[in-house]
Amino acid sequence: MSWLTVLVVLVVVTAGLLRWRRPAWYWLTFGVTLATLRVLIRYGSVMDACGLTVPPSRWRIAVARMANRPAPESRAPRILRVRPTRTGLVLRLGLRPGQDAFDVAASCDRLRHSFAMYGVTSREIRSGVVELRMTGYDILKRVQMPARVATVPMRVPVALREDGAVHYRDYRTTPHALTLGATKSGKSVYQRNLVAELASQDVALVGIDCKQGVELFPLARRFSALADNPDTAAELLDALVSHMEGVYHLIRAEQRITADVPDAEIAADIWDLPDHLRPTPVVLLVDEVAELALFATKDEEKRRDRIITALARLAQLGRAAGIYLEICGQRFGSELGKGITMLRAQLTGRTAHRVNDESSANMAFGDIAPDAVVAAIQIPTDKPGLAVVGDATGGWARVRTSHTTLRQAVNACNRHAHRTPDLPALARFRPTLPPNATVPAPAVESAPAPA
Ligand SMILES: Nc1ncnc2c1ncn2[C@@H]1O[C@H](COP(=O)(O)OP(=O)(O)OP(=O)(O)O)[C@@H](O)[C@H]1O
Ligand SMILES: [Mg+2]
Repeated sequence: MSWLTVLVVLVVVTAGLLRWRRPAWYWLTFGVTLATLRVLIRYGSVMDACGLTVPPSRWRIAVARMANRPAPESRAPRILRVRPTRTGLVLRLGLRPGQDAFDVAASCDRLRHSFAMYGVTSREIRSGVVELRMTGYDILKRVQMPARVATVPMRVPVALREDGAVHYRDYRTTPHALTLGATKSGKSVYQRNLVAELASQDVALVGIDCKQGVELFPLARRFSALADNPDTAAELLDALVSHMEGVYHLIRAEQRITADVPDAEIAADIWDLPDHLRPTPVVLLVDEVAELALFATKDEEKRRDRIITALARLAQLGRAAGIYLEICGQRFGSELGKGITMLRAQLTGRTAHRVNDESSANMAFGDIAPDAVVAAIQIPTDKPGLAVVGDATGGWARVRTSHTTLRQAVNACNRHAHRTPDLPALARFRPTLPPNATVPAPAVESAPAPA
């Protein structure tokens, strides 16, 4: 008997240790089975306690009465499917007549406590079917992206959602995006993640980094054009606008609309062009955008107007020419002068990292989802990289980027340096590389921090 006791104690201690030190391993070894059993066993009583049951229908009561059986009980939503995942459980429920998805959404916090899960969120799949996504532990504490994620051209995984799903940045559905956040909130790491993921795709990366290029220049080998000050940025943006016009000429030249051309073959954007003619899509990354909009002298004001006009034109017209904007900054509001709110309105994708005040969060979500504003303000300082993202349905979600170090991003860019396309219109801005290009990039991370 004693060896059995030792075994049980060993298992319990291992489980406890794993739960404390390695929650992800605990979940995969013990947690998932225990949680599945707990949910299935407690399901009926929890739903009843959370007010998610409906009284029996009249005909069921009548049948019970006729058969002289006890009155039937209230019924909980039907479990259509239980799917264990790497981070939690997904429960698909069929609602009973009279229930709605809002009832379930309103009970998420109660369900979380009742099933002893870390988080529970719900979403409607279709009429009458709701999905409950439960997480077994705090997956945003130490983000681990799944080893295999679906990569589609112009759609890259960039962060993990609090419900365990991967958050993608999809340039085809959301061409332009704005990322806001206070200093040291994780904006540049978010952008670095994007660069590291985009590096392996057939896309031209163009960067404007007014912090003297400290964030983007180490990744220069994968960039087709880079600017590290507002003067170069103004010229680069003008060149990008002429590149865009060139692409439109190409599309027009291909648009021979005659009666015998099938509708599907009429080109209206670069993705309708045949592969051999399609220009490479361009992602323009701007870090610290406010630097481009600030001015002290008359000349700088002219430069600022030129920059904002070019950005607004790219945001308005760029999508069909395959030019996508990814703009990062601490604030991006009307105090930066005319044209800013118009430009902001063009940036569909919104992400807010930790912000210092409500007005900064309002710049991201004020006009879309007021409760996302509150969520952005509540992000704690000790969780850089945690952000609130607006999604395509008008809702929002909490996400956290994985901590890609500068070294990892440099390695990804160097590995895919051969993919860097030459854009003739932007050739002047192509970063000059050290003469011995095979020498690995400097170990930036180990460089001493400036005093
Ligand atoms: N997802 C993450 N997980 C863990 N740590 C992170 C994450 N994102 C950022 N950090 C940490 O936060 C620090 C600041 O991040 P980052 O440089 O991206 O901030 P920032 O918003 O760009 O700041 P600034 O406005 O000053 O440029 C990073 O050095 C990194 O250590
Ligand atoms: Mg930064």
